[in-house]
Amino acid sequence: MKVLFIGDVVGGPGRRGLAAAMPELRERHRPDLTIVNGENSAGGMGITEKTANALFEAGAGVITSGNHVYRHREAYDFLDRAERVVRPANYPHANPGRGHTVVEVGGKRVGVINLSGAVGLQVARSPFHEVDAILERIEADVVVVDFHAEVTSEKVAMGWHLDGKVAAVFGTHTHVPTADARVLPGSTAYISDVGMTGARTSVLGVKPEQALEALITQMPVRFETAEEDVWVMGAAVEVNERGLADSIEQVMVPARSSR
Ligand SMILES: [Fe+2]
Ligand SMILES: [Fe+2]
Repeated sequence: MKVLFIGDVVGGPGRRGLAAAMPELRERHRPDLTIVNGENSAGGMGITEKTANALFEAGAGVITSGNHVYRHREAYDFLDRAERVVRPANYPHANPGRGHTVVEVGGKRVGVINLSGAVGLQVARSPFHEVDAILERIEADVVVVDFHAEVTSEKVAMGWHLDGKVAAVFGTHTHVPTADARVLPGSTAYISDVGMTGARTSVLGVKPEQALEALITQMPVRFETAEEDVWVMGAAVEVNERGLADSIEQVMVPARSSR
């Protein structure tokens, strides 16, 4: 089974870029399941029912998220209803949405778990304890994790924690891809950050001049989503019969609509 994971889709440019690139990605990787992080899909921050549906239309089978998931109030009810959209599992239990989901793919039950790092981000429970508790009760043949976290040390540690227990740990949140994609000794595919799906002429998806103004003046600045030079970033993992990984390949392609 092939799992394609796509990093944080930023705003309209990211959504359109993903839709444009998917035919090429489908042809090249032949994914049985595509998982897309949608936490920035609505206006660069947050997710709505409309942007989630655009990601599903582009080919997402499951949508993961992260710290921006609750940006748009009107999405809370949707998050409660949407069985294929997940938010970090280690948020307060009563928060809208679910922390993991199980979908059927080619006769296999694939569990997708979303976790938030505890370093530099606000969580209710340790991501390590949380994932252990979920793995004890989840009924799935294959499990993949989106670890939405700030620092590489915590992400690398999660990779080792889950090595041999899940098929893949995909890091998200920093929007900057790392060069450490590999299959760990216990056959878990790992990458610290897959990067984002958005404009490369940007600071993490935001127009560079606005991000710079904010950093230089230390004054509030309205951020707009950058549109130039959109790339799609992610990783593709081959999952074997044991529910573990045989390979991981980093994905970084310009979102051209015609080729
Ligand atoms: Fe993000
Ligand atoms: Fe994030």
